[in-house]
Amino acid sequence: MHYFQYRDNELYAEDVPVREIAAKVGTPVYVYSQTTLERHFKAFTEAFSGAPHTICYSVKANSNQAVLKTFIKMGGGVDIVSGGELSRALKAGVDPKKVVYSGVGKRDDEIEYALNTGILMFNVESEQEIDRLNEVAGRVGKKAGIAIRVNPDVDPQTHPYITTGLKKAKFGITMEHAVAEYKRASEMPNLEILGIDCHIGSQLTKVEPFVDSIKKLKELITELRGMGIELKYLDLGGGLGIQYDAEAPPLPADYGKAIKEETKDLGLHLIFEPGRNIAGNAGILVAKTLFTKERDEKHFIVIDAAMNDLARPSLYGSFHGVQPVVKDQDGLIGADIVGPICETGDFLVKDRQIPMFKQNDLMAFMSAGAYGFTMSSNYNSRPRAAEVMVNGDKFEVIRERESVEDLVRGESLPSWLA
Ligand code: LLP
Repeated sequence: MHYFQYRDNELYAEDVPVREIAAKVGTPVYVYSQTTLERHFKAFTEAFSGAPHTICYSVKANSNQAVLKTFIKMGGGVDIVSGGELSRALKAGVDPKKVVYSGVGKRDDEIEYALNTGILMFNVESEQEIDRLNEVAGRVGKKAGIAIRVNPDVDPQTHPYITTGLKKAKFGITMEHAVAEYKRASEMPNLEILGIDCHIGSQLTKVEPFVDSIKKLKELITELRGMGIELKYLDLGGGLGIQYDAEAPPLPADYGKAIKEETKDLGLHLIFEPGRNIAGNAGILVAKTLFTKERDEKHFIVIDAAMNDLARPSLYGSFHGVQPVVKDQDGLIGADIVGPICETGDFLVKDRQIPMFKQNDLMAFMSAGAYGFTMSSNYNSRPRAAEVMVNGDKFEVIRERESVEDLVRGESLPSWLA
């Protein structure tokens, strides 16, 4: 459930007509509904009521300060994968003791930064990272809390690019090596073993793969206990899917029920790293039709947003619903919606029956709150879109549209060309 609904044929973000936002801020623009963000965060955390847990929102999904602050105010922590994400989350006021740091390639300076910040734990993803973490922690005189990210070799049945828990994926340490690595880590002076972690993929639409991976982790936890290695945290990553089109992902409550059942006797504090489930349907991308083009074979709607603004359709062939901001189109048409970028792969909608958008019509790409703005780029020297947050009948810009000056910031000519 989200708060982008029609009133008299006009699309509203909560109590604000989307048309007004576009008129004031221009297009393309990302619009987030704060009430939806809050509602989704609440549904997720309530799904685990009765079980000690922390929601460490996955910053990569949508890293705007206003979005982070919304969850932090509700008691959320964060899952980060870079020093940049840590700095954003700290700026937004996160409690360092609610920060978990995942990722296969952490640099020394990033590790030092996180240690000095006093984050809860590092989700370590390789044998070498364990050694490096111990070394760097020794150098800065801190103890690094760790969980080993285990790769349980479970198929999440999602897009191959966002499948992470299979043996052939670059992520985590295999089940076979995990015990030996826990043993090695337990003997290192500057590491403190705190937990176990797994994240098997994103946009999962079933609970079974989650349950299957917990079953595998439980075997490991028992084995570790037998060796005298006690854990405090079980980090189950993110991955719960959302409805973009006709998918029917489990509700957070159903996901929570299945996970609580499977983990109830473990006595571990659960950590979750949801991104998409909370932010995905809380945001839309609003764009404007520049031109329409009729070809014998095809109808094209050329808009002012492109693959640099919303990469998911080009990159994964992902579906995003498209809806008119004002419903006054003359029926439907089979068409592609394309951007101005010089690539045939620059489309947001491909071969779909959509409203017959006219020149200057505004449209909203739905479910764009996660992996939308964060994956945007400046390709074709396109300034990145503005971001707006709505709450009730108020809206404010939470990231201004980039300017052409922003595009060349940091560039300089070598002395021989100047
Ligand atoms: N934790 C870890 C370690 C992750 O790698 C991810 C996502 C998450 C949590 C959050 O997953 P979520 O709850 O959002 O599924 N760009 C792709 C998605 C990439 C996901 C990467 N990792 C897309 O647009 O579909």
